Order: sequence, then C-alpha cells, then structure tokens
Amino acid sequence: MNARDNTLYVILLGAPGAGKGTQAVLLSQQARLVHLASGDLFREVRQQDTEIGRLVKSYYDKGELVPDDVTIRMILERLSQPDCQSGCLLDGFPRTLQQALALDDAFHAQGKRIERVVSIAVERAELLRRLGGRWLCQRCGASYHTVSAPPKVGGTCDRCGGELYQRADDTEETAKNRLDVYDRQTAPLVDYYRTRDVLAEVNGQGQVESVQAAVVAALR
Ligand code: AP5
Repeated sequence: MNARDNTLYVILLGAPGAGKGTQAVLLSQQARLVHLASGDLFREVRQQDTEIGRLVKSYYDKGELVPDDVTIRMILERLSQPDCQSGCLLDGFPRTLQQALALDDAFHAQGKRIERVVSIAVERAELLRRLGGRWLCQRCGASYHTVSAPPKVGGTCDRCGGELYQRADDTEETAKNRLDVYDRQTAPLVDYYRTRDVLAEVNGQGQVESVQAAVVAALR
C-alpha cells in the first residue's frame, strides 16, 4: 500500500495459462480491488463490427499482441476511470517494454506508482495442458478444465447453468504461438521490474490455493 495516497497498484505477470486471471479474481475479491484484464477488454472489442474490432480480432485470433499504440490508449483510458483511482490489479498489461514505459510515464505524471509486480512461473508443458483443456462459461465467466476441473454436466456451468465454450485462441497452434510471443516480447519485463525492485516471483505450478497463498505473501 502506498502510504502517501493509500493506493495499491499491482501487476500480475506470467505466460498464457500461468493463472493470472484465476489469481486476480481471488485477489480482487479479497482486497476489493478492480481487476483490469486487458484480454477481457480485447475479447469485448473483437466482437464489435467496427474498424477497431476487426483490427483487434486479426491479432487476437492468431495469438499475436495487439499493437502497442491501441493497447496503451485503451488501458490508460480504462485506468483513468474513477473506480481505478484507489488502485487495481493489472492482469495482462503491460506485455511489452513500450507498454511498461508508457505506464511508468502515465503514473509518474499522476504521482502514482506500481507497488508490486508478481511474476507467476509455470512450465511450458503445463501451460499447454491448461490452455488446451480450458472451458469458460458464456454467462458468468467461470473457468473449467476437462481433466483437472471438469463441470458436473459436460458443456454446462455448475454455478449458473450457462453454456461452456473454448476461447478462439486456445487451439493448440495458437496457444503455442502465444507462448512464443510471451517468451519474445513479455518475458523481458521480469528483468525490467526486478531492476526497479518491485518484483516478486511465485511458483505457479501448485494447486490454485497454494499459489494464492504465495501471491498474497508476495504482496505483504
Ligand atoms: P489474455 O486474455 O490476457 O490471455 P493470456 O495472457 O494469454 O492469459 P490467459 O487468460 O490465457 O491465462 P491466465 O494466465 O489468465 O490463466 P488462467 O487463470 O485463465 O490475452 C489474450 C490476447 O489478448 C493476447 O494473445 C493478445 O492478442 C491480446 N492482449 C491482451 N493483453 C494485451 C496487451 N497488453 N498487449 C497486446 N495484446 C494484448 O488459467 C488458465 C487455465 O488454467 C484455466 O483453465 C484455469 O482454471 C487453470 N488454472 C489456473 N491456475 C491453475 C493451477 N494453479 N493449477 C491448475 N490449473 C490452473
């Protein structure tokens, strides 16, 4: 917590499937912080039949990063809204050095700072296993896995009865490309934040609950 202005901004960093979204949902409930997931914003935009919707879809569906100028504009605009003024959990942003620098500049100008960057590490084979078996609820967003967390009734959400679907970018080929993109464009941010002395590294291989305990400990 930033003692000066009582704000708390945290970044969850990690490869696709590392568990950023899972941990962010749990943390945002515990800490009553806004969960700002860039992927969720892009999933909404890519449905729109607009120039920006088509542009986002063309990158998203291949597992490539949406260009920095579009991403930075969208996220900084979202961060400027009233519900983010006392802090938030950033899940999926920043993902390139240019995005990290833009966030630093914007926060510097506003007298804010990133308190902690939690990097969640998981081996590639496990990441592919998680992404390949992931199913999501159309209605409430609950997440399932065909092997480790199957729904009671196939194709139906246990919580709300909604229909389950697989993400367009969770196909094997696209998931592999997303992991390559992460290694090339996002992994260097681990060193970037380490040199700024805000990095905490967490092993993301265990059960959701034990990873959560490690994430919470990293924030203390
Ligand atoms: P985004 O939606 O951010 O996807 P991602 O980073 O690829 O992350 P995922 O949502 O796949 O994984 P996660 O780490 O959140 O894991 P989760 O908790 O869901 O981005 C999608 C696309 O949007 C990008 O490819 C790009 O095109 C665009 N985009 C987004 N941000 C961008 C940016 N900043 N710049 C440019 N473009 C951007 O868990 C995964 C699965 O594992 C689930 O089934 C879950 O139940 C399971 N699981 C979680 N934890 C555990 C555990 N401990 N043990 C076992 N299973 C677990």
